[in-house]
Amino acid sequence: MSGHGTPIPMTSSPCGPLSGEAHVPGDKSISHRSLILGAMAVGETKISGLLEGEDVLDTGKAMAAFGAEVINHGGGNWSVHGVGVGGFAEPDTVIDCGNSGTGVRLIMGAMATCDITVTFTGDASLNGRPMARVTDPIALFGATSVGRSGGRLPMTIVGAANPVPVRYEVPMPSAQVKSAVLLAGLNAPGQTVVIEKEATRDHTERMLAGFGAEISVQETNEGRVITLTGQPELKPQTIVVPRDPSSAAFPVCAAIITPGSDVLVPNIGLNPTRAGLFYALQSMGADLTFEHEREEGGEPVADLRARFSPNLKGAEIDPLRAASMIDEYPVLSVVAAFAEGDTVMKGVKELRVKESDRIDAMAKGLRANGVEVEEGDDWWIVKGRGHGNVPGGATCESFLDHRIAMSFMVMGMATQQPVHVDDGSPIATSFPIFEPLMAGLGAAITRS
Ligand code: S3P
Repeated sequence: MSGHGTPIPMTSSPCGPLSGEAHVPGDKSISHRSLILGAMAVGETKISGLLEGEDVLDTGKAMAAFGAEVINHGGGNWSVHGVGVGGFAEPDTVIDCGNSGTGVRLIMGAMATCDITVTFTGDASLNGRPMARVTDPIALFGATSVGRSGGRLPMTIVGAANPVPVRYEVPMPSAQVKSAVLLAGLNAPGQTVVIEKEATRDHTERMLAGFGAEISVQETNEGRVITLTGQPELKPQTIVVPRDPSSAAFPVCAAIITPGSDVLVPNIGLNPTRAGLFYALQSMGADLTFEHEREEGGEPVADLRARFSPNLKGAEIDPLRAASMIDEYPVLSVVAAFAEGDTVMKGVKELRVKESDRIDAMAKGLRANGVEVEEGDDWWIVKGRGHGNVPGGATCESFLDHRIAMSFMVMGMATQQPVHVDDGSPIATSFPIFEPLMAGLGAAITRS
């Protein structure tokens, strides 16, 4: 599969103890939303701690193309002069969202109720991913779209000139779809109602409230019912982006499997819609503790301390937790390889439509490195070999997926032989400082 840059083959070799502090970058989900909501507010939103990964930078470029003024002040400090709800101008070029499903789906929602026409594209990974999950609900607002077969990008969307509010039950557990509908609902008169059967990450709801929108959430027998009143004037905000729990997952899991390790990962958000991995690791016997638990910006935050855990046991991961750790299954499957016994992961069909088919990508790489995997449409089982018994030695394809590349680099820290990936370049989409950060802890990752 070809991406948009030169492939960067990488090798991770077994290493000594990992130690020290891992200051991971800002949260990807919150970074995208900060730029998009900043562009939909009237006035200047200030953002610090923005994740400066390719995915988020592409969203920043898109917001500029829609008429917002997006300024990089250096050191993770950005400002966005927004154009107001319904104020997007028609971009004069194609919007390229690179590798980012979150970017393209949220932006499609945000422009769907503006009287403009926009063409979207992405890299080979993004152009293979399903977009009907967004074009179906935005059609209810009055937007129309034409894309390639299977509802794939490149795709042109004609926003609704006279949008109507909708009531929409999200058919799959997807924060991206929920958020696209809510962002579209911003410029529809009256109340838009979104229902989700399973709770997914709730950053859009929290941030819309912070920007001054009228939004309420009720837990009912139908699920979470979110009601948004359209056409508010969003007030610009000062946003401090918390560090990303999905990025924290990599140094945490690396420390758990690498002999002698003791790593502190400070300031990690433990929003219950995001923190599932950490509880799953604890249920497997990982030595992972939450230090200095506190509240920051209305969110639970802690410093994570992860230590080498020689007696990991396979576990059945609660499917009810799946949405809260959906991006962490690849690296969890690596930890599972070092546990005794089976780790069973069910109710995870969504993994098949991420940046890659993550069950397939991980199964291929794990098997190549001597770990047995069983899989079905929406489940998989990793047959753990126990600490010290994972052979390694093979090259894994990353399939243009940052989390696949990073997971196999973590694996190589504790296998008998080094582990290679064919292309680590996608890591820059979400964790541009992955290599120096891991090197600082004592990892041996090289570009080969
Ligand atoms: C995200 C939602 C998740 C996640 C993605 C970020 C978001 O996708 O996989 O990395 O910021 O809303 P889905 O909502 O499609 O599950």
